[in-house]
Amino acid sequence: MNTRCLLSAFLCMIMSAVFAEEPAASQTKERLVVMGGPITEIVFALGGEKDIVGVDKTSLYPARAQKFPQVGVVRAISPEGVLSMNPTKIISSSSLGPPAAASQLKASGIPLVLVDNPKSEKSLMEAIATLGKEINREKEAEELIKKLTDELAVVNELASKQTSPRVIFLMGMAGSLSAAGEETQAGGILSMAGGKNIFSGFRGYKPVSEEAILEAKPDFILVANHTSQGDVSAPDDPKKLLQKFGFKSVNALEKTKIVPIDMGEFLIIGPRTGETALKLAKIFSKPADTAGN
Ligand code: HEM
Repeated sequence: MNTRCLLSAFLCMIMSAVFAEEPAASQTKERLVVMGGPITEIVFALGGEKDIVGVDKTSLYPARAQKFPQVGVVRAISPEGVLSMNPTKIISSSSLGPPAAASQLKASGIPLVLVDNPKSEKSLMEAIATLGKEINREKEAEELIKKLTDELAVVNELASKQTSPRVIFLMGMAGSLSAAGEETQAGGILSMAGGKNIFSGFRGYKPVSEEAILEAKPDFILVANHTSQGDVSAPDDPKKLLQKFGFKSVNALEKTKIVPIDMGEFLIIGPRTGETALKLAKIFSKPADTAGN
């Protein structure tokens, strides 16, 4: 080998060492703290997992998200806990709170991205596109949007073949039964599945009386439990849960199908929504008086 060959081989070695180093260096650059179940789920689905250094306690899905260091609950965060993770970016659902904690994070100078929990097909696609940009995964975001659009078209087709059932979503929380109104994830998923939310005349969640529920003559009542410790699993016996929260005449609802709902599965409008909306549309397609309670 002459000197020239030796020199180019040497240069080649140096160049490949430099380029081999580069991806590793950029991989360790981002340190994301991600908060809010639906937001975390989208970041995971886009492949952003390797950049995550912390999540909040509502980030339950996928199950491996629960293994990451936790920074509390998104609605009641401690800013010190978040900042102690030395994040390069904080990505959170806009339910970030309390307000003083949110202001402290804003003032920290670390980029803070707030995204509304999706509550409709449109806002789901917007959230995926925004998060795709924020974590540099725009191609993955486009693919996920396409997949969900196709899945939801199937749900839409099924829903369009039946008369919209009249539905109430009730959540037992903090000692009372509240119904989901407009601008809720519950309202969003039930209308994607072809249902009509009877209580759409208000925003958010509101306690409703037993009389109002009985008068509304719902075809379906979806019942969920949400403990103050964050247990959102489906109630074993939804009728008992209604009674526990003060509903006396469950038996007067003989024409209504009462369905237990796992909020972590059904109410997160995110990457799984094509599947969950289809499940719900199939439940809605069974006539209430023959499906059994
Ligand atoms: C201990 C911690 C938690 C607290 C203090 C908390 C608090 C709340 C409150 C106050 C609401 C009512 C929403 C409203 O009025 O707009 C709510 C709804 C909800 N929570 Fe939690 N939560 C906690 C944990 C969790 C966990 C672990 C999950 C897991 C997925 C979760 C999922 C939901 C969902 C899906 C809704 C319904 C939102 C909607 O339909 O728009 N929460 N939570």
